[in-house]
Amino acid sequence: MVCLGNICRSPLAEGILASKLDPTKFEVDSAGTAGYHVGELPDKRSMTTAKQHGLDITYQRSRKFVRSDFQTFDYIFAMDRSNYDNILALATTEQDRAKVHMILNQISPNSNAEVPDPYYGGDQGFENVYQMLDEACSIFAQKIS
Ligand code: 4NP
Repeated sequence: MVCLGNICRSPLAEGILASKLDPTKFEVDSAGTAGYHVGELPDKRSMTTAKQHGLDITYQRSRKFVRSDFQTFDYIFAMDRSNYDNILALATTEQDRAKVHMILNQISPNSNAEVPDPYYGGDQGFENVYQMLDEACSIFAQKIS
């Protein structure tokens, strides 16, 4: 799960998807395309929103997306178009490129809809992000389980 800062959207996405998959069979992680917040906890508003839905994401620490993530993971989900482009810029093979998807295309294939960045908004933005990620992750988890 990849966003810009790895403190708002992708930590929620990681927590939500991990909660829907068997941890003995799947590894779920998140990262940011920018390094501004490396080592930090998720944004308080993401942690609060997660908690309101029974998820603990306080174990997470922000990290930057790295080229070796293409080897480590089978699926790479971008939250928005800018994340998508920044991830693809690090891809070196066709196999790498094929792993990268827009997360909301799970709900509406080929729509390339974006998860809005809630960083500068209010708490409702985080709940909105939670709801769209929950729907997308439910669909994906069913597909691969
Ligand atoms: P995220 O949100 O990409 O969902 O983690 C942001 C977090 C931090 C910043 C921008 C977006 N920032 O500019 O510091």
